[in-house]
Amino acid sequence: MLNVNGITKIFGGLVALKDVSFSVQEGYISALIGPNGAGKTTLMNIISGILTPDKGKIFFEDQEISNLQSVRIAKMGISRTFQHLEVFSNLSVLENVMVARYTKTKSGFISSGLKLPFAKKEELTAKKKCEEILDYIGLYNRKNEIASNLPIGEQRTLEIARALATEPKLLLLDEPAAGLNIKETKMLGETIKRIRQEKGITILLVDHDMELVMKISDWITVLNFGEVIADGKPSDVQKDPVVIKAYLGEEL
Ligand SMILES: Nc1ncnc2c1ncn2[C@@H]1O[C@H](COP(=O)(O)OP(=O)(O)OP(=O)(O)O)[C@@H](O)[C@H]1O
Ligand SMILES: [Mg+2]
Repeated sequence: MLNVNGITKIFGGLVALKDVSFSVQEGYISALIGPNGAGKTTLMNIISGILTPDKGKIFFEDQEISNLQSVRIAKMGISRTFQHLEVFSNLSVLENVMVARYTKTKSGFISSGLKLPFAKKEELTAKKKCEEILDYIGLYNRKNEIASNLPIGEQRTLEIARALATEPKLLLLDEPAAGLNIKETKMLGETIKRIRQEKGITILLVDHDMELVMKISDWITVLNFGEVIADGKPSDVQKDPVVIKAYLGEEL
C-alpha cells in the first residue's frame, strides 16, 4: 500500500534520514520504531506531505505522493496524528473532529476565514459522521466538553478521532501512547486493532512503548540515526542483535 523508496532528508548539516526504504502492506499494523532522534517523526512528516524529501520517492497505492501537498495526500486517504497534541483546546470535542474533517480535505477552508457553515445541510451530514466517529472511539458522551478539559488519555483518543474524520485508508500514529498509563495504553492497543479489523484501515504506528508495539504489530521497521537497521516480524526484530545494540539502555 505504501512504498518508501530511498528517502533522504537533511536539516542543515544533519542527515535526519539516509536512504530509507520500507513498505507498509495493506491490512497490516506496521510499526516504525527507533531511539529518540532516529528520524521517525521526520518520516511521518514526509509521508503526510508536511515535509518534502531531499532524495527518494514515496508511493501510495502505486501513485507517487512525494511532492504532493498534505491536503492532496489526505484526500488520497492518508491521515495522521501528531506526537505533540494538535487538538484545539478552546473548541469542543465534536468541533475538533469537525474542523479536522474540513481542514484536512477542503483546501479553501482556511482561506474562507474559519467560518464553519454548520447550518448547511451537507454540514449536518458531516456532523452526524463526526458524532459516529466519536461514538465508535468511545468519546460520544464527551462531545460537548471543551477539549482542553479532557485528561491526556482522552485527548490522545480525540487525536485519533480527528484523524479518522477524513475516513483514511492509511492511518499514521505518532506516539499515541505517550503520556498514557498502563490501562489506557492497553485500551489504545485494543482501539488500534479494532480500527484495523472493523474499518479495514491500515496502520503505521510509531511508539516507544515496546509492549504495545510487540503486542499489536504484524511488521516492524527499526530506524537508528536515520537509517533502517532492521525490518521484519516482531519475533525476529526482537532478537536481532543490531536492534538490541541500538536500544542498549532502553527496554526491549
Ligand atoms: N525541522 C527540523 N530542523 C532541524 N532538525 C530537525 C528538524 N526536525 C527534526 N530534526 C532533527 O532530526 C532528527 C530526527 O528527528 P525526529 O523528530 O524525526 O526523530 P524521532 O525519531 O521522531 O525522535 P523521538 O522519538 O524523540 O520523537 C533529530 O536529530 C532532530 O533534532
Ligand atoms: Mg518523534
